[in-house]
Amino acid sequence: MNQRPDHGSPDYGIDAPGLVRNFALAGISAFAASIFFYYSFAETRPVQAGLVVGFGVIWGVLGLGAAALMVLSSRRGKLKERDRILDSIPWRGDERVLDAGCGRGLMLIGAAKRLTSGVAVGVDAWREKDPSGNGPEAALANARAEGVEERIEILEGDLSELPFKDESFDVILSSLILHNIQEREERATAVRGLTRILKPGGRIVILDIWDTGEYAKSLREAGMQDVSRSGLRFNIFPPARLVTARKPASGEV
Ligand SMILES: C[S@@+](CC[C@H](N)C(=O)[O-])C[C@H]1O[C@@H](n2cnc3c(N)ncnc32)[C@H](O)[C@@H]1O
Repeated sequence: MNQRPDHGSPDYGIDAPGLVRNFALAGISAFAASIFFYYSFAETRPVQAGLVVGFGVIWGVLGLGAAALMVLSSRRGKLKERDRILDSIPWRGDERVLDAGCGRGLMLIGAAKRLTSGVAVGVDAWREKDPSGNGPEAALANARAEGVEERIEILEGDLSELPFKDESFDVILSSLILHNIQEREERATAVRGLTRILKPGGRIVILDIWDTGEYAKSLREAGMQDVSRSGLRFNIFPPARLVTARKPASGEV
């Protein structure tokens, strides 16, 4: 019997690792300050010490709580949400799929697992280490670990100027990337760029924590059909919304 070599477990990293660290440090510092004030001033200045300890505990819980929710979101929630999103797409198996801003390959690999003869292409600028350990080699290692390396391609490119011909993809996925683009007009240009490379009849799926109303508007303006924006999805922290749309098929009005 042919056995697949063991390439270890996939690791999709922690989103915004700098922010997680800062929240955790803020929480720990607030608890440390509370303990210090309690032991130093509880007897001599009980009212002031009580106030500082109260605020310190609240900030400590908020800081550590936010850090814990962000880690949980990266390690579990995003994987659940990824499967929920991909399970809602009626796959044929022969699609050409793009994961725009693929990072360590979460969506890319999830899509590749649903393909038989199709291919999933991941593109990313990989300028920052968000998620942690981000890079093409991490995406490739995850694809190997999940046994889909033969169904994926990984390319470097910026969303502002994607290196693809018009109407190249049946499905375009974009998870937690567009909000990284600072200017509203540049985000709109990026959304228009995604619609340009979508085949007639193809679908586009955008998951993000902010600006989703803006993406839905840009998709409508670009002539997409069935544009919809979901309610908040709490598997992800901060909660995210999903924007989906379809490009009219040839001859469809
Ligand atoms: C929070 S990560 C999300 C990664 C992956 N989509 C996921 O859901 O796990 C954001 C990704 O967007 C990429 N990115 C940010 N701005 C980009 C741009 N202008 N063009 C291409 N990729 C970009 C980053 O390198 C990073 O991999």
